[in-house]
Amino acid sequence: MIRLIYTSREFRPLSEADLKRLVTRSRIRNEQNSVTGFLYYSAGTFLQMLEGDEAAVNATFARIEDDYRHVVHTILVRETIAERFYENWSMETANPTKTSKILRNFFQIDQDLDLTKLDADKALLLFEAFRGANKALRL
Ligand SMILES: Cc1cc2nc3c(=O)[nH]c(=O)nc-3n(C[C@H](O)[C@H](O)[C@H](O)COP(=O)(O)O)c2cc1C
Repeated sequence: MIRLIYTSREFRPLSEADLKRLVTRSRIRNEQNSVTGFLYYSAGTFLQMLEGDEAAVNATFARIEDDYRHVVHTILVRETIAERFYENWSMETANPTKTSKILRNFFQIDQDLDLTKLDADKALLLFEAFRGANKALRL
């Protein structure tokens, strides 16, 4: 199995309804492909972790890279894994409105977090912090 973590920037402003649609569709596709992960959205930027069999993650990421709704910024992590970080989540996500303040506190910044500024270590800290996240924070 592999884990891939990347950041991207939206092409055009996405509404919460757009995000919900995107996540709903992604969950269906990921369930079919046994891909798990987490998707953050903040200040027009995305941070996503994808995990699963190498071929499945590669095929999923190829579709994601082709998606006009965003432009991929950086691939932060691409590594072989023995275990998944998110066992049960076909694609979990955090509600941007409910989590923006938490993210600001977490990174001690006074503006909404630009996820493309994160390095791999900080991204992993963020995933770790939200691993056991409360259902109320989800989109
Ligand atoms: C930020 C972002 C994250 C996405 N994450 C996933 C994902 O985890 N899995 C997935 O299948 N598609 C994901 N997509 C959507 C794909 O780019 C693509 O639209 C979708 O897989 C096409 O599915 P369809 O051919 O069934 O319509 C994502 C798109 C964006 C913009």
